[in-house]
Amino acid sequence: MPPHRVSIFDTTLRDGEQSPGCSMNLTEKVRMAKKLQDLGVDIIEAGFPVASDGDFAAVRAVAAQCRHVKVAALCRTAELDVARAAEALKYAAHPRIHAFVATSDIHLEHKLKKTRAQVIEMTRAAVRQARDYAEEVEFSAEDATRSDVDYLCEVLDVAVDAGASILNVPDTVGYTTPMEFTRLVQQVRERVVRDKDVIISVHCHNDLGLAVANSLAAIEAGARQVECTINGIGERAGNASLEEIVMALHVRADRLPFETGINTKELYPTSQLLSSIVGFDVQPNKAIVGRNAFAHEAGIHQHGVINNPLCYEIMTPESVGVPANSLVLGKHSGRHALSLRYMELGYDITAAELDAAYTSFTNLADRKKRIYDQDLISLLGAVTRERAA
Ligand code: KIV
Ligand code: ZN
Repeated sequence: MPPHRVSIFDTTLRDGEQSPGCSMNLTEKVRMAKKLQDLGVDIIEAGFPVASDGDFAAVRAVAAQCRHVKVAALCRTAELDVARAAEALKYAAHPRIHAFVATSDIHLEHKLKKTRAQVIEMTRAAVRQARDYAEEVEFSAEDATRSDVDYLCEVLDVAVDAGASILNVPDTVGYTTPMEFTRLVQQVRERVVRDKDVIISVHCHNDLGLAVANSLAAIEAGARQVECTINGIGERAGNASLEEIVMALHVRADRLPFETGINTKELYPTSQLLSSIVGFDVQPNKAIVGRNAFAHEAGIHQHGVINNPLCYEIMTPESVGVPANSLVLGKHSGRHALSLRYMELGYDITAAELDAAYTSFTNLADRKKRIYDQDLISLLGAVTRERAA
């Protein structure tokens, strides 16, 4: 990997799915995984196989059907966990086992009920076991940002010795700040990685609304993998949002000269697909993919944008896949406009599906002034479900 290439590790199907109301069935996970592969993510974390048979089956199915991307399975540092992850990844083209254990005293004392020495031994054993199954092993020190840094570095050192080549430094509770996190990543780099062929990864939660800022700070400090989710879904306030990190790197390449493999034009369609699967919309003012992200309401702004979009737009809607065509769909719109909008949203629908969707669309348009893309996706979802039943 060139030194300025940042790997995008997508955990929408694992950490993202842990957010209330975001669970997905196997078919939905595979559909989402294929979209993530097309988006250009480097790694898809497809689930936590020991947690349930459903997760196990999902990891297996994603690994079988997504052959151009790395597929990761999460496990704790317990023998059965590692074995289940390995089993689920058995037929993956590019498998990665992702083992984690907490390193903060608060977690050791109140959750794991283990001593520091025991956690070191658990780390060593789990990473070694994982390496027996997979070439690529990632180790995460859960709650790293609230861990004693000397102890954290000791555990990470053991993980590297045992064969981990990716070290993840999670801000599990969304507690750190950009400058503090910069320092932590620098310390891991200087004290653990040094000249070894090991990648530092970060995984930031958004409890203080700093997940993206912390991830970007970490990249500047030397992290070369970021863990994130579409629409920022995830435990509690969510994970760092993939689309925000990617577009910050893209738009501010002057200050952040790093590359990803993401096809930015797929960001909006991917976000829309996730919303339709989990059944809830992104907040309207969400950066990059929210309904209002490119809407200019004030007259003075509209005037500026009409004269030159650069007055108020730092990126074009097209660059993130928001349909350029701002045709407003309403009760007078025809079948052709509807079919075009579905194409722009990335849906390849049959004539029969279009007929059924059009009937529902005209009914809805009688009741609703404006029809949004999300409405169209929900309509289509209902149509395909009805046809499958
Ligand atoms: O937030 C966290 O620490 C995690 C780990 C399992 C990586 O999700
Ligand atoms: Zn997490």
